[in-house]
Amino acid sequence: MMRRKSLIAAALAAVSILVAAGCGTGGLGDPKADKARGKELFTSKCAACHVLADAGSVGNAGPNLDDAFVEVRKQGFKESTIFQVIDKQIKYPTGRDLFDPKRDIHLNGPIPTVEMASDIVKGSDRDAVAAYVASVAGLPVKGGAGGKIATADGKEVFAQAGCGACHTLKDAGSSGAVGPNLDAAKPAKDLVILRVTNGQGVMPSFKGKLTADQIGAVADYVSGAAGK
Ligand code: HEC
Ligand code: HEC
Repeated sequence: MMRRKSLIAAALAAVSILVAAGCGTGGLGDPKADKARGKELFTSKCAACHVLADAGSVGNAGPNLDDAFVEVRKQGFKESTIFQVIDKQIKYPTGRDLFDPKRDIHLNGPIPTVEMASDIVKGSDRDAVAAYVASVAGLPVKGGAGGKIATADGKEVFAQAGCGACHTLKDAGSSGAVGPNLDAAKPAKDLVILRVTNGQGVMPSFKGKLTADQIGAVADYVSGAAGK
């Protein structure tokens, strides 16, 4: 899949101009929001589409958030400024198609297959996710297992790997609509193993992230629970 380049640098340039001009940044959220809660929310709401090493996520429908912020960190932007940009991205996602009819071109590259919906998380939840991402994106992972999933329980793997952000599965309480509704698709175990291992289209491969046993467990779970 073609992926467009990060828009973060441009967004930060705009924010710093506003700050320099004394306009503030529109007074969005609270950068001191609860980061632990933000990490949980990231895993359930954002991990499906974004790589973020600290969260151990492998989604590839949207930009890799570590890559997006490495350069920004080098340029010395403050965490509070990065927070504002992320908070704003969640409230008003960029990445809507910027089509210029006069020139008949898409200004920001190929049309995305997946768009980031606005208000995936709201209010203090949005601040918590933004504060968490601003505190880790583009930085080396601090200790721990690099966010690797430890559980061997299929239902837990489904939750922790973020499958539910893209797939509806009643048994797991998920209502994602990026990929097929698994209750309707009722995939056989072999198909689940194949898709989770190799990915397809915007579905990322989980090969480096889940062990063969974990992939087997989530496949058992999905093929058994779908449609129930
Ligand atoms: C369904 C997939 C999807 C989900 C879920 C999602 N995003 Fe995104 N996100 C995208 C896409 C696609 C883009 C790229 C927009 C563009 O540039 O065209 C993006 C862009 C971004 C950017 C800007 C990155 C850059 O380099 O320009 C940030 C920051 C971001 N997302 C954070 C989040 C956070 C935080 C969440 C959870 C609250 C989240 N996203 C949930 C798909 C998603
Ligand atoms: C970023 C969104 C995304 C995530 C995360 C994701 N999927 Fe998918 N999945 C898709 C899409 C899109 C398809 C359809 C691919 C195609 O056929 O082009 C798909 C297809 C599938 C299929 C095949 C369904 C069918 O009938 O064709 C299965 C099974 C599946 N996913 C299971 C999972 C499991 C289990 C996980 C977690 C380990 C997961 N997916 C994570 C988006 C996602």
